Amino acid sequence: MSNFSERIATGLRWLGAVAGAAMLVGCERPPVETVQGGYRGTSMGQVYNQRVINQDVAKNTAPAELPAASSEGPKAKDVYQNVKVLGDLSVGEFTRHMTAITAWVAPDQGCAYCHNLNNLADDSKYTKVVARRMIEMTQHVNADWKKHVADTGVTCYTCHRGKPVPAEIWFAPADRKYAANSVMGDLAGQNIANKAAVLSSLPYDPFTPYLKEAQPIRVNGNEALKLTGEGANRTSTKQAEFTYSLMMHMSDSLGVNCTFCHNTRNFASWTEAPPQRVTAWHGIRMARDLNNAYMEPLTGVFPENRLGPKGDVAKVNCATCHQGAWKPLYGAAMAKGHPELLKVAAAAAPADTAATGAAPSAAAAAASAPK
Ligand code: HEC
Ligand code: HEC
Ligand code: HEC
Ligand code: HEC
Repeated sequence: MSNFSERIATGLRWLGAVAGAAMLVGCERPPVETVQGGYRGTSMGQVYNQRVINQDVAKNTAPAELPAASSEGPKAKDVYQNVKVLGDLSVGEFTRHMTAITAWVAPDQGCAYCHNLNNLADDSKYTKVVARRMIEMTQHVNADWKKHVADTGVTCYTCHRGKPVPAEIWFAPADRKYAANSVMGDLAGQNIANKAAVLSSLPYDPFTPYLKEAQPIRVNGNEALKLTGEGANRTSTKQAEFTYSLMMHMSDSLGVNCTFCHNTRNFASWTEAPPQRVTAWHGIRMARDLNNAYMEPLTGVFPENRLGPKGDVAKVNCATCHQGAWKPLYGAAMAKGHPELLKVAAAAAPADTAATGAAPSAAAAAASAPK
């Protein structure tokens, strides 16, 4: 919070004319404020609206931390019957963990949300089976995706915020046609004002191609006006629209403008982009990894009423963690108070190799190529 007010205070600059401001922020009521980023004269300012920020701040306040528990005494695996991930914690630490996840995920429902209270070792509730995998997923994020989450890390609260189902999740949407027997056929996922693309009529599912599949997020050619031959840009208008839809989601999820990650003089250039774009590049790969390695395999565990219109499981996008803040919870480092969530438990499955994919520097060379 204070970090944020400093940024506002130091960089604060009113736009010249209220009319210009109104145009920049579309439908948001003025006044807005701009905070300058990037080099002077590059117009890489961030436009903020205090009323929107007030809502985001309320959503992004971290809860108080539980007092630490002693690591002395018998281990959970020696005392309990069915502990597969957190067995090396002391009984005190294990109980603290159970108390914390109850507060983060099911505060109104309590222990019974995951447990058969007559037998805590019983795995008959799907929520417990999901929660065990979620513990492993959280450990994997903190241990293997430091290029995105740094030492700030995540806890269950980062996504759940005191609710069993996180506020921001996505499913593959149902297919939609223009109308029965219309010669225009399929909508190609377009032309409907939709939340995923922030009420633009850009494609309404930018998530399947980019946060589940690994379609290229590229629209620029490497050479201007090259229409034929080897270096020609074959990217279609449709691919460009899908890319822009994802970018709208990313900006909206973080509560930032495009210039948070791009020098809009050249969207494709990595060398001219702020470092946040590299963090975002890793974030895209991380979301993909979580959806494919953790969420999808849980599909059969969830009851039908939790699945989407096409029978797929709820999945993660940028908003699941960020919820309107450029760092979730404005960078509150909740995870360090829970060392059990910082490393992958010995018994857990090995980390997915996708976590160590090529760094953007390789992609950078191909994409920016200033000749
Ligand atoms: C969000 C789901 C969730 C909630 C809520 C929850 N637990 Fe658990 N609990 C689990 C999971 C998952 C395990 C298994 C952990 C493992 O395999 O390492 C577990 C295991 C246990 C065990 C070990 C049982 C055994 O013999 O194997 C105890 C004891 C326990 N929890 C107590 C509690 C208490 C007390 C509460 C309420 C304060 C609670 N839990 C709330 C998910 C939950
Ligand atoms: C990266 C985001 C993320 C993190 C971190 C995360 N979860 Fe989840 N969780 C999800 C998503 C997405 C779902 C699917 C929503 C649904 O249930 O339909 C989910 C579902 C669940 C469910 C099932 C709820 C229900 O009613 O269907 C439980 C229980 C759960 N998580 C527990 C946990 C626990 C415990 C932790 C921390 C150890 C955790 N989660 C961390 C994203 C996350
Ligand atoms: C949080 C950072 C972030 C924000 C905000 C953001 N972008 Fe991007 N953008 C990226 C990243 C990262 C890539 C490259 C993705 C990849 O290669 O996987 C990208 C790629 C692009 C590309 C493709 C460039 C090429 O190589 O062809 C365009 C165009 C683009 N963004 C436009 C926008 C627009 C317009 C906005 C605002 C609506 C925006 N971006 C907001 C991070 C961001
Ligand atoms: C599992 C939770 C999670 C998900 C999902 C997630 N992020 Fe993040 N992100 C974080 C955390 C935690 C940080 C803070 C890291 C730090 O303190 O440097 C962060 C930081 C960032 C930053 C750096 C902000 C800055 O000021 O330096 C950018 C940019 C970013 N995320 C973009 C994205 C984009 C784009 C997506 C979706 C493709 C995404 N994130 C998905 C957890 C997440």
